[in-house]
Amino acid sequence: MTASTAPVRHFLRDDDLSPAEQREVLELGLGFREDRFIRTPLRGPQAVALIFDKPSTRTRVSFSAGVAELGGYPLTIDGATSQLGRGEPIADTARVLDRQTSAIVWRTFGQERIEEMARVASVPVVNALTDEFHPCQILADLLTVAQLRGGVGALAGTSLVYLGDGANNMAHSYLLGGATAGMHVRIGAPAQYLPDPAIVADAERIARETGGSVLVTSDALEAARGADVVATDTWVSMGDEASAAERELPFVPYQVNAEVMAVAAPDALVLHCLPAYRGKEITAEVIDGPQSAVWDEAENRLHAQKALLTWLLERS
Ligand code: CP
Ligand code: NVA
Repeated sequence: MTASTAPVRHFLRDDDLSPAEQREVLELGLGFREDRFIRTPLRGPQAVALIFDKPSTRTRVSFSAGVAELGGYPLTIDGATSQLGRGEPIADTARVLDRQTSAIVWRTFGQERIEEMARVASVPVVNALTDEFHPCQILADLLTVAQLRGGVGALAGTSLVYLGDGANNMAHSYLLGGATAGMHVRIGAPAQYLPDPAIVADAERIARETGGSVLVTSDALEAARGADVVATDTWVSMGDEASAAERELPFVPYQVNAEVMAVAAPDALVLHCLPAYRGKEITAEVIDGPQSAVWDEAENRLHAQKALLTWLLERS
């Protein structure tokens, strides 16, 4: 549905936005927070395909509401009951969707699947979570820190610690998205669940440009010491259910609890992408306590994704 000859922009991983581009999207996100209807690039209406191969509450609701608020029509597709679920090639699906929609938002398994969709689609493809990355979530997290800590300009130099499963999509996206924002990103994770070294190397390269830094350690308290933002995520991501029992024990020292908060900065913000498992990766006292920003974070999915879609559509 695109008329432009400019190469289409996709958002498949956090570093698909340069530092300057990420700032533009976040500024626009703060604008949408102030006024839900400042821009309506989809007025028409134009359909946006939202495909889910995995469960979702926040992503499905925020993209559905967001597309409608941008003037478009959200077309929510359950991957399992579409022909994708019966093995239709991703490339063929891309060729069908891009003749009838303005953008494709996809939650799926391996990153290579969404990369294949983007290789063929002539409309923006957005990663709504893969096994490797959850970049829309990190945009919302950054927006939350900007909202509560003095604007987008305040992100650079802020320290963010993520404790728990260092090998999952959230850890990888904090590394890339946080480094892009010029943050000091620290991952505290058990030795057998550390981030992909290639992604750590990418984050280090970005951090050298932005003035941020990257630390990966198995010492949870070292990672958390003085941190301005304390984040965590489930120990059992979607797709990891078969290994749930063996995952429990190694993660116990990485729980976000009062002991961790005592070594973080006194006014540290607490983030969790949700759904949360109280008593596992985070205590009820912390996630339901005064430093928790998780409900603003969940709301900011809407504003951040509207900003992202607007930014991508205006360039495609
Ligand atoms: N945080 C997040 O992506 O939530 P859902 O799985 O509910 O979409
Ligand atoms: N790491 C989690 C994030 C859920 C929003 C998962 O992939 O299940």
